[in-house]
Amino acid sequence: MKPVQMERTPFADLDGLPSEMTAMLLAALEAMGHHPEIRRVRDTALQALRPEPGARLLDAGSGAGDVARWLAAKVGPAGEVIALDSSAATITAARQRHDGSNVRYLTGDVAATTLPADSVDGVWCERVLQHVDDADVVIGELIRVTRPGGRICLIDTDWGSLAFDGVPARLARTVVATMHGRLTPHQADMGRTLRRRLVGARLAEVTATPVTCVFGDPASAAVVLPMVNPMVPQEAWMTPPGVRDEWFSYVDAAGHRGDFLAILTIWVVTGTVV
Ligand SMILES: C[S@@+](CC[C@H](N)C(=O)[O-])C[C@H]1O[C@@H](n2cnc3c(N)ncnc32)[C@H](O)[C@@H]1O
Repeated sequence: MKPVQMERTPFADLDGLPSEMTAMLLAALEAMGHHPEIRRVRDTALQALRPEPGARLLDAGSGAGDVARWLAAKVGPAGEVIALDSSAATITAARQRHDGSNVRYLTGDVAATTLPADSVDGVWCERVLQHVDDADVVIGELIRVTRPGGRICLIDTDWGSLAFDGVPARLARTVVATMHGRLTPHQADMGRTLRRRLVGARLAEVTATPVTCVFGDPASAAVVLPMVNPMVPQEAWMTPPGVRDEWFSYVDAAGHRGDFLAILTIWVVTGTVV
C-alpha cells in the first residue's frame, strides 16, 4: 500500500487539534524531556551554546517551557529567557507550569517575531524546524533578533537515521519505510541539514554534533519513538496497517530477551552571529 505523506505535522498547529490531543502531545514532550538520552542531547546543546549568567535567551518553539525554565536557572536572576511558541494552548500550559524563574512567555511565530533586532544574546531552537514551512526563513529571523557575537543553537532529529535490531530485519524495514513515507520532506532529514543552513546563513564558528540516542529496551524507546509505543493509535502515527500486532509481538519478545535496540540521531548545530 502506498504510504500517505502528511502535508504538515501535528506540531505545526497544536491549537488546531482537539484539546485532549494537544494535552497528550504536551505530556509526551514532557516525558521526553526526562529521558536520559534527550537530556544528553540537551547537555550537548548547553555546552555548545555556552550561555553566560545575565544573558537574555530566546527559546524559539518552546513547547510547555521546560527547557526555558532550565535555561533560566543557567542565566540566573540577572538574565532572562523568552519562551516563544505559536500555540496559545501551549503557552497557557507553560504559564501554568511556571516556577517563578526569569521566563517571559510569548505567543508568536518563530518565522516573524515581534522581538527587536539584536535583542537576545542566544537562541535555543529544539525540534521545531522540522515542523515549519521554511526553516531558512526561521533561521533568518533568529539571526535578526540575535546581537552580533550571540550564539544560535539548533537541535533537530534526523529521522533517516532511525534503525532497529533484535526484531526481524524485514519488519523493521517495513516500519521504517512506512514512517519515512508519512514524514513531510522537512521532517525526514532536518537534523543533517542544519549545518549547511547555518554555513549558508554566514554564521561563524559553526559546530555540528550528531548525538546518537540509544534505546536498549522498548519501554525506554517508546518515550521518544511513536512506532514502538503501543499507546499511540495506528491512525495517529506510523505502525503500518496489517503488521502492527506482529511488530509489537517481536518488539516485546526482544524486550524480554534483553536484545532490543533502537537508535536515532539528533543533531546539535551552533553558530555565532557576525
Ligand atoms: C516538537 S515540539 C518541541 C517543543 C520544545 N522545543 C521541546 O523540544 O520540547 C515543537 C514546538 O514548536 C512549536 N511551533 C511549531 N511551529 C511554530 C512556529 N511557526 N512558531 C512558533 N512555534 C512553533 C509547536 O507549537 C511546538 O510547541
